[in-house]
Amino acid sequence: MQDLPDLLTPIVGVRPSLLFSSLLAIHIAAGALGYSAGLLAALSPKRAGRHPRLGTIYYWALAAIFVTATGMSVLHWPEDAYLFVLGSLSFSSASVGYAARKIRWRGWLGFHIGGMSASVIVLATAFYVDNGPKFASQVPTLVYWLGPSVVGIPLLVRAFVRHSRVMADLQGHGAQRDASRACEPRTAHPAGADSALQPASQRMPLTRPARLRSGPASLPMISKWTMRLLMLGLLRGQQPQR
Ligand code: HEM
Repeated sequence: MQDLPDLLTPIVGVRPSLLFSSLLAIHIAAGALGYSAGLLAALSPKRAGRHPRLGTIYYWALAAIFVTATGMSVLHWPEDAYLFVLGSLSFSSASVGYAARKIRWRGWLGFHIGGMSASVIVLATAFYVDNGPKFASQVPTLVYWLGPSVVGIPLLVRAFVRHSRVMADLQGHGAQRDASRACEPRTAHPAGADSALQPASQRMPLTRPARLRSGPASLPMISKWTMRLLMLGLLRGQQPQR
């Protein structure tokens, strides 16, 4: 029977050591799990249930990716040093995003969306830069470096705009709301932070006010601001020219 280093030789290019092969085997399994869980979490409706479950799987798979990537980078330093940097960036931004959701400090939602999205973008960058040229060597390396950001950053901006609470927090309007929410007992909140940790039978569906506002729910806000801008434009147009 083939041993692990023999099995992984076609992937790595040279016969790796047993230690490197063991790290790589865990790394590939965690990478496949984390990458799919991260994408599915981002695409799932942002409420209790699938999104927090997949997000938690993503976070712990990323921890395994980070630990194994660090080990492999140390073994293949300096050619893998940049992968250590990318791994650290991805894991630290996911940690900020994960902690924001768990602790829920003032304006946490912006940190959650920003941290988790940045982490997935950096994870995809590390994967494509390292593995892309092995599958399509004719594609310029710059495409692998910039591709995930070109796709991911507009989606991140869209998520920020759609979740009007984030915009309110960025503008400082969240302070008042958060202060009043802080006075509510946690259990009284039908979609409390811990609802994802409760058994499914006890979990309550999100009520409309607690749900993250997205899609059609944010339309009134967009129309309000469009009307305000139009009024401003009209008023300016009516001012006498000097
Ligand atoms: C933060 C994200 C990631 C980092 C920092 C990272 C880092 C690394 C490092 C250091 C290596 C060893 C490179 C070598 O010396 O040969 C490696 C290899 C590999 N990684 Fe990742 N990785 C990440 C994400 C992923 C993901 C999501 C997958 C998906 C399955 C993946 C699959 C692989 C594969 C197949 C290899 C073997 C190819 C090779 O040896 O270059 N990685 N990765």
